[in-house]
Amino acid sequence: MNHKTYVVTGGNTGIGKAIAMALAQKRVHVVLVSRNPQKGQSTVTEIQQATRHEAVDVVVGDLGTVASTHQLATTLLESYPHMSVLINNAGIWMTKRETNEDNIEQSFMVNHLAPFILSTRLLPCLTANTPGRIVNVNAGLYVRGKLDLDKTPYGEDFSRMGTYANTKLCNLLFTRELAKRIKDSGVTVNAVHPGVIRTHLGDTAGIGGMILGVVKRFWGTPEAGAQAPVWLATSPEVEGMNGHYFDLQTATEVNEIARDDALGLKLWNLSVALAKLETFPV
Ligand SMILES: NC(=O)c1ccc[n+]([C@@H]2O[C@H](COP(=O)([O-])OP(=O)(O)OC[C@H]3O[C@@H](n4cnc5c(N)ncnc54)[C@H](OP(=O)(O)O)[C@@H]3O)[C@@H](O)[C@H]2O)c1
Repeated sequence: MNHKTYVVTGGNTGIGKAIAMALAQKRVHVVLVSRNPQKGQSTVTEIQQATRHEAVDVVVGDLGTVASTHQLATTLLESYPHMSVLINNAGIWMTKRETNEDNIEQSFMVNHLAPFILSTRLLPCLTANTPGRIVNVNAGLYVRGKLDLDKTPYGEDFSRMGTYANTKLCNLLFTRELAKRIKDSGVTVNAVHPGVIRTHLGDTAGIGGMILGVVKRFWGTPEAGAQAPVWLATSPEVEGMNGHYFDLQTATEVNEIARDDALGLKLWNLSVALAKLETFPV
């Protein structure tokens, strides 16, 4: 068995579950993060039985608040000293503005700030287990992002499509800024659009939800959605590649706003403050 540990957030369902399954098939140690212990444990059992691979664990963690994400990072650091790959997969598409205990809009928290906290907190461990990789599951819809750093983090410019796109744009700006900071550390970070995939993302009730359900029947399977993230997490073909955005398995130039280094730095500094980080290793 390969003793490197691969952590997958949102590993209990959708693309994350398919990623965890594919990694287990590669006989690596998989830790899936689930906010629901029962769902997480039943996914572990399903993967172990399907792959006949025992080295699959669940860690319960909620990415919905700054405090619970820090708690998750602490648990992972204490429990898994061999972590070398972090796949920030968990994501949400909100239909209305909701804020958490820190007044942070929920999808900004889960889609951007939680990956920011986990990546920066776990980095010393990943650096100790090089070569390490961070894979951010992004979305091609980032191109619809406009991003107002005075409003977006708090949902003050909330719209259903715009906020999702803005949070993915933030995740992409973060990927590029982190890549610069960890250059030559032995750890790389890249972002990936996994395809348009039939999962629970963005599900709603009512007539709109019914129409979406019909449309989703024509979308790709979670297994198809796992292919590019797993390739980015494991393939020797991408060894040393750092700070890139992949549309499936094709390295693709990002749009102008996602290449705005001044905006990326401003977001970085804001994220440090919102995450209540006292120190940062790079
Ligand atoms: N589906 C697509 O077409 C598509 C396209 C582009 C990008 N993506 C991206 O792919 C990633 C995976 O999405 P998916 O399509 O597989 O959606 P999904 O089926 O809804 O799965 C999302 C996962 O994130 C978890 N999650 C949500 N909020 C969380 C929280 N506060 N704490 C911990 N975990 C939380 C969910 O846990 P629960 O089961 O407990 O809710 C679930 O495991 C997302 O980043 C999404 O933006 C998807």
